[in-house]
Amino acid sequence: MDQSPKRVRKAVIPAAGFGTRFLPISKAVPKEMLPLVDKPVIQYVVQEAVDSGITDILLIISRNKRAIEEHFHPIVELEAELDAKGRTEELEQLRRLQSMARIHFVWQPKMGGLGDAVRFSRTFVGDEPFAVLLGDTVVTTPEESKPVTRQLMDVVESRGGFAVALQEVSDDKVSRYGILGGTEVAPGVFLADQFVEKPQPRDAPSRLAVSARYVLSPGIFESLEEVGPGKGGELQLTDAMRALMAKEPLHGVRYDGKRHDVGNKLDFIKANVEFGLAREDIGGALKEWLKSLI
Ligand code: G1P
Repeated sequence: MDQSPKRVRKAVIPAAGFGTRFLPISKAVPKEMLPLVDKPVIQYVVQEAVDSGITDILLIISRNKRAIEEHFHPIVELEAELDAKGRTEELEQLRRLQSMARIHFVWQPKMGGLGDAVRFSRTFVGDEPFAVLLGDTVVTTPEESKPVTRQLMDVVESRGGFAVALQEVSDDKVSRYGILGGTEVAPGVFLADQFVEKPQPRDAPSRLAVSARYVLSPGIFESLEEVGPGKGGELQLTDAMRALMAKEPLHGVRYDGKRHDVGNKLDFIKANVEFGLAREDIGGALKEWLKSLI
């Protein structure tokens, strides 16, 4: 039997959380639908998966997240109107958006943590390794680098097991993240021997924090059934990953890039300024305006 790792073709994007850090707007508008200039955050996340070579995407949503579904579905009347008015640019943009990938949806009925959300992807995933991209976090990499998800896919497709994206954080931020400890086996690639969810700095094995992107093996589903509730009484993906480490290697990939956690108000505004400055149509004017402010 062929034991070499399978290619990663599928991605799961958890986007069911309440978005309590962004109330009141997140009450009726999913935080994943907040715009970075003119595209919702979720579209950048889907784009990263597509740019990484993913062809099938499952979005895990919940009751107040229907706008996400609508965003990826065609609106026939709108297309007809744009066509009739000769608005070809907008029409093309909509069509590109709708044909990005095969996009599927599933509901997480009750908020039970990231691990609980991932459980709902079991049927979709089947027996293949798969990427997980947190739906409220946009990750940008320098032009010469591959997307972070692609970097993780490369590691899993060549070394097997499963992988997480890492960024170094300062002491005061350690307790907000999953923290990985291990040995550097290639530049920026760590073979994990420890993995802890949101430790106090004195208990943390390193300053390497899990950063919103994963490539998991299907073995994670069994581990999710084995581990009980963890931090905050929720089913933690980190705990299931730690259990899986006993059976399969976990690699952490320290990437060169920027993580915009858009579920956080300050990061959201900073990201909009950065993305706005990078735009050809409004970048110049925005820069002038910013200069006049300070
Ligand atoms: C989750 C994970 C944590 C990870 C973080 C950022 O935490 O549980 O391990 O470091 O995302 O990717 P949350 O931000 O949902 O509390």
